[in-house]
Amino acid sequence: MNPKERLEQYTRETEEIIRAYLPLEEGYHETVLKAVNYSMKAGGKRLRPLFMRGVYRLFEKDRQKEREVEPFMAAIEMIHTFSLVHDDLPCMDNGRLRRGKPTTWVEYGYDMAVLAGDALAIYAFETAAKALDVSDRPDRVGRCMGLLAAKAGVNGMIGGQTVDVELAGKPVDEKQLDFIYRLKTGALLEAPMMIGAILGGAQEAQVKAVEQMASYVGQAFQIQDDILDLTSTTEVIGKPVMSDEKNEKITYVSLYGMDQAKKAVRDLSYGAEEILRGLPGNHEFLEYLIDMLITREK
Ligand code: IPE
Ligand code: IPE
Ligand code: MG
Ligand code: MG
Ligand code: MG
Repeated sequence: MNPKERLEQYTRETEEIIRAYLPLEEGYHETVLKAVNYSMKAGGKRLRPLFMRGVYRLFEKDRQKEREVEPFMAAIEMIHTFSLVHDDLPCMDNGRLRRGKPTTWVEYGYDMAVLAGDALAIYAFETAAKALDVSDRPDRVGRCMGLLAAKAGVNGMIGGQTVDVELAGKPVDEKQLDFIYRLKTGALLEAPMMIGAILGGAQEAQVKAVEQMASYVGQAFQIQDDILDLTSTTEVIGKPVMSDEKNEKITYVSLYGMDQAKKAVRDLSYGAEEILRGLPGNHEFLEYLIDMLITREK
């Protein structure tokens, strides 16, 4: 298998894993369950669970144990999807299209989209806890649940989104922008990669290295997202373009210029790959994923 075929196969596997953990659509409250599943099944690149299992496999060679990572793969995608459902709300970025489909609030209404986001945030932990049924290392599972909460929560993604929203239409300096990117996007890449490392049995210094690698990946990822907001088309990225300008958001591109932004994506990705080279295991797939961040068009 070449790297491209491998990515396609792993994405299909990830899709199956995620779907296995989605709730049934039944009961008087089926509307919110439908809204949850609509948001989760709309597609998306599934990068965060792919990174999680990729890092896990650097450290754990026993494929029999691998089931313990699967609930966390579904959980991180639920947290990420919750962040997008709320990010698209009229009070936030006011987006009408996501993953090529009407956003959750457009399809199900503002109230159901708020509830679907809340539901996903909580269901992620109900799902992650299922790792306890299949893992013989409950201490690692517990630590990973705490980490997932910390990286998603007030001092993680939510903290970053807070400053992003609060500073819309206002001047933003380099330090504030750096804070926003590290938290709103970086934290949700640090969580999956660190969970992969911890579940796989990495040493503390290796977990730290993985956190730094993921932080670089996250920052590169957000800068590329800003670039695509200006250079891509709705058809290709499946969400509105020129959205940052419309929402009066200062981005890496508006602050530093396009050339510097492209350079930052490259430098940060190479920085991540340098750290990767110091980790054990076969790096081929993760290196391909990180390279893709530089060249990705959606
Ligand atoms: C979009 O994330 C939000 C950002 C953090 C920039 P993705 O580009 O990973 O979105 P999906 O999951 O593929 O739709
Ligand atoms: C999104 O940043 C970050 C989170 C959702 C946490 P953006 O607002 O730039 O993401 P898109 O462009 O809407 O996907
Ligand atoms: Mg936003
Ligand atoms: Mg947005
Ligand atoms: Mg964006």
